[in-house]
Amino acid sequence: MSTPQTIAVIGAGLMGHGLAQVFGSAGHPVRVYDAQPAALASLHERIAANLESLGRPDDFRHLVSAHGEIADAVAGAGVVLEAAPEKLALKQQIFARLVELAAPEALLASNTSVIPISEIAAGLPTAGRILGTHWWNPPFLVPLVEVVGTAQTSPATIEAMLALLTAVGKTPVHVKKDVPGFVGNRLQHALWREAIAIVAAGIADAETVDTVVKASFGRRLAVLGPLENADLVGTDLTLDIHNAVLSHLDRTPGPSPYLEALVAEGRLGMKSGQGFRAWTGETAAALRRRVFDYLKAYKG
Ligand SMILES: NC(=O)c1ccc[n+]([C@@H]2O[C@H](COP(=O)([O-])OP(=O)(O)OC[C@H]3O[C@@H](n4cnc5c(N)ncnc54)[C@H](O)[C@@H]3O)[C@@H](O)[C@H]2O)c1
Repeated sequence: MSTPQTIAVIGAGLMGHGLAQVFGSAGHPVRVYDAQPAALASLHERIAANLESLGRPDDFRHLVSAHGEIADAVAGAGVVLEAAPEKLALKQQIFARLVELAAPEALLASNTSVIPISEIAAGLPTAGRILGTHWWNPPFLVPLVEVVGTAQTSPATIEAMLALLTAVGKTPVHVKKDVPGFVGNRLQHALWREAIAIVAAGIADAETVDTVVKASFGRRLAVLGPLENADLVGTDLTLDIHNAVLSHLDRTPGPSPYLEALVAEGRLGMKSGQGFRAWTGETAAALRRRVFDYLKAYKG
């Protein structure tokens, strides 16, 4: 375990409460701020429910505190993790406050999914300590954290964050360029774009696309990365396949019109009962449970 240092979490939503759980369970004091009192009021309850599902004791409750003022959460923190909504202007405002309020040596990290960190840090002084830490949901079960530096982020900032994340049991990786989507979401959404295009073109329905992924290369993905796989089959075979197929893949520069139509029609997925596929409360809950149980078993 690393030496305990105070961690501030900005935003106590889906990701923020999970981040508080990761650091609290590793013995770090965590101070959480949210603009919504309801999010703070339910913070401990949500962490306790996660721990119960994991069959783990709630023995670090005293380390996690909720604060209605950002200055109180940030006071004395060595690391600040921002997990507020994915809106650039909001994140810029929050980081401007963090630069003012946090100790000069504190690391300031955003959990943005796809926004370049340099856009969030634009124009701020002491940008050397600002970086991205892109976690995956649920952060206490998915090991990866992408650590993203801008052209201004200091090497010491990156090193300190990699060391901290390793010490709390995560699998951090250093993403060397601050590009939209970093690595994980670029790969994930390249796959989703093609999946949507296949449905839109009538090649297969949504259920079939999901079955193809889950019952074929999806089975291997957790133990065989795409580039290991290319080496396994041979780069020569990979080149032959790319010569035959790449020019047929979807290259629409923006979101698919099929996706835009779903949203316009209110087919928003599980929350509206219909998206690419049809959902009831029960089938949606069962799927969420399957994912949680799988991740829990995989974590060991
Ligand atoms: N949900 C995911 O799977 C996931 C995965 C990785 C990264 N992210 C990123 O993490 C961030 C948070 O996502 P989430 O899913 O936890 O969102 P969320 O909506 O569940 O939580 C956001 C929280 O921020 C609070 N908030 C709103 N304005 C605020 C402000 N000015 N200051 C402090 N808190 C404020 C909200 O009240 C809410 O509790 C986003 O940038 C998102 O893109 C999400």
